Amino acid sequence: MPELLQQIEKTLQQLDAGTSEQVSALFAEVRKQFNDQEAYRRKQNDPANLQIFWTSWLGRKSGVLTKITENWLKPSQPDLKRIVGQELNSLKAHIEAVRLEQNAAIEAAGDSAANARDREDLSLPGVARPLGSRHPLRQTFEEIEKIFLSLGYSVVAGPEMETPYYNFEALNIPEHHPARDNMDTFYMAAPFTETVQGKPFAETAQGKPGAAPLLLRTHTSPMQIRTMEKQQPPVRIIVPGKVYRRDNPDATHGFMFHQIEGLAVDTGITFCDFKGTVEYFVREFLGPKIKTRLRPSYFPFTEPSVEVDATCVFCGGKGCNVCKQSGWIELFGAGMVDPAVYGFVNYDAKTLSGFAFGLGVERLTQLKYNINDLQLYFQNDVRFLRQFA
Ligand code: DAH
Repeated sequence: MPELLQQIEKTLQQLDAGTSEQVSALFAEVRKQFNDQEAYRRKQNDPANLQIFWTSWLGRKSGVLTKITENWLKPSQPDLKRIVGQELNSLKAHIEAVRLEQNAAIEAAGDSAANARDREDLSLPGVARPLGSRHPLRQTFEEIEKIFLSLGYSVVAGPEMETPYYNFEALNIPEHHPARDNMDTFYMAAPFTETVQGKPFAETAQGKPGAAPLLLRTHTSPMQIRTMEKQQPPVRIIVPGKVYRRDNPDATHGFMFHQIEGLAVDTGITFCDFKGTVEYFVREFLGPKIKTRLRPSYFPFTEPSVEVDATCVFCGGKGCNVCKQSGWIELFGAGMVDPAVYGFVNYDAKTLSGFAFGLGVERLTQLKYNINDLQLYFQNDVRFLRQFA
């Protein structure tokens, strides 16, 4: 370079270049210098040198090309000017081509760096979105529904807001009957337009305005009445749903819980059918080793009424804390439908018979999984819920 710098300060005359061959040789020398410097710069690959490199060649005031124009081309002899011009243009084109190529390379490198930054790293662990799972109560519902569907029952749903007529009267629980005592519930001031047996409810004996506000149903049993009103026998239904009572929450009570009502009515249904169905259900739900027994009980809408007990799932019947050493645990209430109930739905009590049962979903779930606090179902603590996923 120092030599080149000196050369371009001189005119062609001073350099003794009087023929076109000599001119071409000088330009070839300059081009070689350029190529060498470019190759060296590329090897160094220091971005700081890039600017200096190009200024030294293309700088307007004192770049090599400017000097050659000023000192070689302009003062050259007329007979040499053409060849000097051609050589200079060819040199410029060469340098320009290298510059464009270099810019493209720089841009591409930038792009690929940016791409690398933006590209997803497929080896990183993904963002885990935890899937929800079915609530233990929902699982019990589905299991019980499956068992009864396999026996030919249908699943029906009913309103949680009820009239006292369906919740009590038609189930043979008259006003002031002591059976209402443990079924206190929530009453609403909402007006209702319900009809009972074709008459507006307010006109029926039970629907005296003010005397009978709407309430939240205390059990799923009202759907026995609603179903029989609409449908002639044979009836085989189960009714899963929420029920309400005016109870303070503790380990065994809640103001809301879940039941599944069952009802089967037809000609010639006997206590044996009832017993067989109950035993089948309990074995399907709790396991083939479980035995059942029926204990006399009382419900206004069944006669006779029973409590269905099972051998204790925790000790196998030997006696433990849960079964209070008795070997038996109480499962649910049931019985043969009281003929008085048929009177409310215009069924013929002489030719028809049937049975009903009311399963507590929390209770059955609790027995299956040994859950000791009813409140756990409703606190939505994932540590509890995760165990049932
Ligand atoms: N409805 C009753 C309750 O909530 C449970 C019940 C008992 C339902 C006996 C029935 C039955 O269908 O036959 O306490």
